[in-house]
Amino acid sequence: MTDSTDPTQATAPSRRALIGWGGAGLALGAAAAGGAVAMTRTGDDVDPAGAATGAAVAFHGAHQAGIATPVQDRLHFAAFDVKTDDRAEFVRMLKDWTAAARRMTAGQPVGEGAYGGLAEAPPDDTGEALGLKPSRLTLTIGFGPSLFEKYGARFGIADARPEALVDLPHFAGDNLDRNRSGGDLCVQACADDPQVAVHAIRNLARIGFGKVVIGWSQLGFGKTSSTTPEEQTPRNLMGFKDGTRNIAGTESDRLKKFVWVGEEDGPRWMTGGSYLVARRIRMHIETWDRTSLQEQEDIIGRDKGEGAPVGRAKERDEPFLKAMKPDAHVRLAHPDSNGGATILRRGYSFTDGTDGLGRLDAGLFFLAYQRDVREGFVRIQRNLALDSLNEYIQHVGSAVFAVPPGVRDKDDWWGSTLFSKEA
Ligand code: HEM
Repeated sequence: MTDSTDPTQATAPSRRALIGWGGAGLALGAAAAGGAVAMTRTGDDVDPAGAATGAAVAFHGAHQAGIATPVQDRLHFAAFDVKTDDRAEFVRMLKDWTAAARRMTAGQPVGEGAYGGLAEAPPDDTGEALGLKPSRLTLTIGFGPSLFEKYGARFGIADARPEALVDLPHFAGDNLDRNRSGGDLCVQACADDPQVAVHAIRNLARIGFGKVVIGWSQLGFGKTSSTTPEEQTPRNLMGFKDGTRNIAGTESDRLKKFVWVGEEDGPRWMTGGSYLVARRIRMHIETWDRTSLQEQEDIIGRDKGEGAPVGRAKERDEPFLKAMKPDAHVRLAHPDSNGGATILRRGYSFTDGTDGLGRLDAGLFFLAYQRDVREGFVRIQRNLALDSLNEYIQHVGSAVFAVPPGVRDKDDWWGSTLFSKEA
């Protein structure tokens, strides 16, 4: 049995190689499910390496991958709306999605592949990821409040909506676009290769045809947060290091305290899960770029080069909040200003062309995981009402999802704890 913590064991067979071997390739894939490719996560352990080798991240585990997992370079996030009233059909789709996700995260094509099957039928896989490595693809599913509201009775989950899955209140400055907000379900696809992430969402949407439809989606091209403090901290589009004081994927105690839903929290089906807040935050980049360096640094509360907190020398030095302006972002977002509230940030930069007025439609697609949305994002975002950064940003999209625990093994499936009878 392979040591799941040894990154050198995270082999990366190419999709083409697996298909090229035909049946043998599929057999290898199955065998690998117990071996190197599909390492089993036991909990908070993550594979800190593997970006360069295009390694696979284990799909099975106590928690879903894509939360504490080292942040990959690219994102394709999709919010889906349900189109079927039939519980059995919906559950069947979740099982089909799981089977496809299990294969794609291991670098294998969906079903019987992209070619070589029945000439009269469309292939199971769309094909654009053939020859590409697994690229640390993770697929993370979440259930939105509207799934419980609209389909609670029909799907037998009316009483299962977690209290912590609140509808987000209106925050000062919000200018939300309904077409970029909400969703009955979401899938977060993260990978180091954008084509691998897009392939994954596209194939899930294809499998879901007639049962779910994509309501909105977002591509992200540069991580703005890190869960691996030993690596260089990435920079956001404002040019500042972002994610310095994030929760690391290896900090089991803080993950347990702030990210994973505990048994005592309820409901039972969410134990080992988490809650995701997604916000599309537009940056007024052109205005920011005309702002003096001093002002930029005052607004963030850190210097631009090193990323050190105001009055300190090094990025990792403990912030001294009182040295910062009262409306500095870091001062207001810091746990000490929010009764200890702490979230795991996992956002990405986006640039979606221009807005017709000569400005880039760019910003931060903010993703944050937490044990309770009320104690996490809501608390911090309320405090950010005073944030001097608000002059340069605007929240234009918003969604919240309950992210169930991980898929335990090859017989388990996404949402099993919610849709199994005893839940
Ligand atoms: C476009 C919008 C935003 C930008 C450009 C931005 C940028 C930054 C930067 C540069 C840092 C300092 C580095 C670090 O510790 O990570 C930071 C810290 C932080 N931000 Fe943001 N941020 C944005 C929105 C948000 C939002 C919406 C929240 C939550 C509601 C948030 C929560 C935090 C937290 C919790 C910290 C760490 C504070 C600490 O512990 O010192 N940020 N942000």
